[in-house]
Amino acid sequence: MLIAGNWKMFKGPADAGAFCRALREADLGSVDVVVCPPYVSLAEAVQALAGTEIGVAAQNVHWAAEGAFTGEISAPMLRELGVYGTIVGHSERRQYFGETDETVVCRVNAALEHGLHVVACVGETEAEREAGQTEAVLRRQVGAIAEGVSETDELVIAYEPVWAIGTGKTATPQMAQEAHAVVKSILDVPVLYGGSVKPENAAELASQPDVDGALVGGASLDVDSFATICREASHS
Ligand code: 13P
Repeated sequence: MLIAGNWKMFKGPADAGAFCRALREADLGSVDVVVCPPYVSLAEAVQALAGTEIGVAAQNVHWAAEGAFTGEISAPMLRELGVYGTIVGHSERRQYFGETDETVVCRVNAALEHGLHVVACVGETEAEREAGQTEAVLRRQVGAIAEGVSETDELVIAYEPVWAIGTGKTATPQMAQEAHAVVKSILDVPVLYGGSVKPENAAELASQPDVDGALVGGASLDVDSFATICREASHS
């Protein structure tokens, strides 16, 4: 069971350091825990969590090792900081920054080749779900990764229905289970659920047979709330 906190564009270095020092002291149950701060706070988080089992991951990575790619960060640069992994293909990247299935595959491959663990995100929009296209969307998104990536040992998929992200609307445990089963039928890797995961719903979601953890946004920004989610998921 893996619980990852995606901080999105929250917490600069000072806040990140304070959060991670508090997280060291928190009771996180028996799950694997990862935090994903913004780039500028990664070094602080790595330092504050040194000697613990809590991993630090980035929120994105470029496919080239270096080059003329203004504003991008490469996998070797993240490795140099002591970063353990990265999220790739988050729906906010797909929606607002033009990420496609093709660029997601390039980023996943580069990250894996350089020894980073990867959480690759997939999920349907509200319109797609209402149109009955959830399975087709997952088949396209996960299929692209399954076809384009050769080794999957360090790869995890996060199923994050776009309509559940930051909205307070959570997929029911049954909806999550169904979607995760589709993902696993295409690619046999652990699958995290993401989308309004909170202390109140973490245990039930985590108890589904094909839910292997959670990717938590808003509720990961507070130490007590994040630690409670970790403990709740530990019972499953
Ligand atoms: P929320 O938990 O804030 O809905 O965000 C989910 C998410 O996008 C995690 O990557």
